[in-house]
Amino acid sequence: MPVTTNELVDKFGRRIDYIRLSVTDRCDFRCVYCMTEDMTFLPRSQILSLEELYLVAKAFTELGVKRIRLTGGEPMVRTDVMSLIERLGALPGLEELNLTTNGAQLDKFATQLKAAGVNRINISIDSLDAERFKKISRVGKLEKVIAGIEAARSAAFDRIRLNSVIMRGYNEDEVIPLTDFALDKDIDIAFIEEMPLGEASDHNREDTTCSNDWVRNVIAEKYELLNSTAKTAGPSRYVQVAGSKSRIGFISPVTHNFCEDCNRVRVTVEGRLLLCLGNEHSVDLREILRDGAKSFEDLKQAIIASMDIKPERHYFYDKDHEQPVRLMNMTGG
Ligand code: 5AD
Ligand code: SF4
Repeated sequence: MPVTTNELVDKFGRRIDYIRLSVTDRCDFRCVYCMTEDMTFLPRSQILSLEELYLVAKAFTELGVKRIRLTGGEPMVRTDVMSLIERLGALPGLEELNLTTNGAQLDKFATQLKAAGVNRINISIDSLDAERFKKISRVGKLEKVIAGIEAARSAAFDRIRLNSVIMRGYNEDEVIPLTDFALDKDIDIAFIEEMPLGEASDHNREDTTCSNDWVRNVIAEKYELLNSTAKTAGPSRYVQVAGSKSRIGFISPVTHNFCEDCNRVRVTVEGRLLLCLGNEHSVDLREILRDGAKSFEDLKQAIIASMDIKPERHYFYDKDHEQPVRLMNMTGG
């Protein structure tokens, strides 16, 4: 008997109403914490088509998912991604369509994205120094990203948030400049602890990881931080800077475990439904999508059934537990 429900609730009572959908494993940058220098990307046959991605999103919204975030790789490098975004923007039941991007093409796309119904945008930026920006992203141009941030501000998204990964030896002296930059532009910023997803090729992650407690203390030396009442769903913790509209978020997957509040799952561009960022538990949705004998209803049933294998928590750097081998671009940032 198929289960009839339009809610996704896992074994630990966590309600899943948010998905992160990766639309490509490719990117025009090669950030040191995310990719190796010489990446091989997936062949076209292995990645979900735009139609398949749409069906996955539709299935989740019919199961009560209210928010979708598009990720990559870099979503904007996928050919014709705008046509998918326009369809997603019109999905009944979807309250928020969000995008995480490296910002390099936002000057071109910001207005179209807003018109298509994108609500919130996260833009990754780890340095305000052009040379250093290039060192971290290996190929990125800072000026393009700054232009992208300006274009996003002009397009007036509901919220714009910068994402910064602070790494010792790379950019730990930029916590204040990055914060000042966000405050000056009236946008949010989140500091993300580098996660051990796959092997990094240029550095040993355990040497570079900066705890968010440290980052927060650095900021607190300059600004009065008020605990934000905005309890956002998910793992970020926000503070407000006295006298400013901007919020500062701390995403601390390494030093704090907020798995008990987890409200999300991810779908990789191969159609692998990942139940947890830090574990390999997954369900192959592509197989169902491409099986002529299976229907859209079967896809929904598989998603419902997956709730049973969502792990309770992740165990980054815990020697007693296996560590993920997937890099971030294969995970869906
Ligand atoms: N650890 C933490 N953050 C990462 N990102 C990519 N790889 C990692 C990693 N290993 C970040 C990007 C982007 C966000 C979605 O994920 O900088 O801002
Ligand atoms: Fe591209 Fe984002 Fe990965 Fe950097 S972190 S390589 S911008 S997907």
